[in-house]
Amino acid sequence: MTVRPTILVTQRIADVAYPRLEQVGIVESATAEESIWSHAELLRRGPSHTYLLSTPVDSIDEAFLKACIAQQPALQLVANMAVGYNNIDVAAATRLGIIITNTPGVLSDTTADLAFGLLLATARRMGEAERFLRAGRFVGIRPQLLCGADVHHATLGIIGAGRIGLTMARRASGFDMKILYYNRQRLAQEQEQLYHLTYTPFQELLQQADFVSLHLPYSATSHHLIGEQQLALMKPTGILINTARGPLVDEKALVKALKQGVIAGAGLDVFEHEPAVEPDLLAMENVVLLPHVGSATQETRTRMALMACDNIIAHTQGERPPNIVNP
Ligand code: DGY
Repeated sequence: MTVRPTILVTQRIADVAYPRLEQVGIVESATAEESIWSHAELLRRGPSHTYLLSTPVDSIDEAFLKACIAQQPALQLVANMAVGYNNIDVAAATRLGIIITNTPGVLSDTTADLAFGLLLATARRMGEAERFLRAGRFVGIRPQLLCGADVHHATLGIIGAGRIGLTMARRASGFDMKILYYNRQRLAQEQEQLYHLTYTPFQELLQQADFVSLHLPYSATSHHLIGEQQLALMKPTGILINTARGPLVDEKALVKALKQGVIAGAGLDVFEHEPAVEPDLLAMENVVLLPHVGSATQETRTRMALMACDNIIAHTQGERPPNIVNP
């Protein structure tokens, strides 16, 4: 008799995903009512499953992975429901023979929509304006009331020209923006032309852009890519947009720069120590703050869940999972 694999889903995902997983294994899942599992809870519930369907809040570190191969059935694959996988020690997983997969591509449009919306909201002071109105302070149009910065024809600096960065560039083209980009590797000329991109060295991009938007993965090498020195290079009217990962930005340096007028504003969907947010940021009017909702639409979260399932299902059928990130 063949033993059915067990699959642990660490958070409630789209309903349509469950019957698919149930066809290939025995599924145990967190419920929508459960709070996010702590690392201790993950350690308690994770071992003795063949597959794990995780999300970015799960810290899949070496200790956890070791615990998951010490018990039978040993963990074989972690399907992370995100394009980013900095929550997982991929090097340790690789050493331990555990496959890690992600969900690239299916969230690029949705995340770029949010990034561009956040840029607009920050430039045009939408959060502040809405708070103003809700507080009953709107008594009529005034020439100097809540004036923001123009987005159309302004200069956008995109850092990281991967799928999401390029999708952001397409949105910016619709606003007649001048688009600079910096990427570790310069793109082919045809791609630069297709997306109306001008390659610009990192420091020059910071100096020239009205809006700087981050679209690169987080790793030890990109930690605090934007710190005090980089913020000082930006224009005093400049606005920073981060929908990628919080620790790309030194949040304390950002708070200082915003307070001192080194830059004009920030739109943040991600934070250095999520879910904690610097209290100073919460008190500022020139920032727009969102709770990491870049890919949060029904359609996209369903596509991401199904993609994570497809990776697990492929492995159960002896096929190569399509989205392996192990080197
Ligand atoms: C991702 O996919 O990496 C997002 O941040 C999670 O929605």
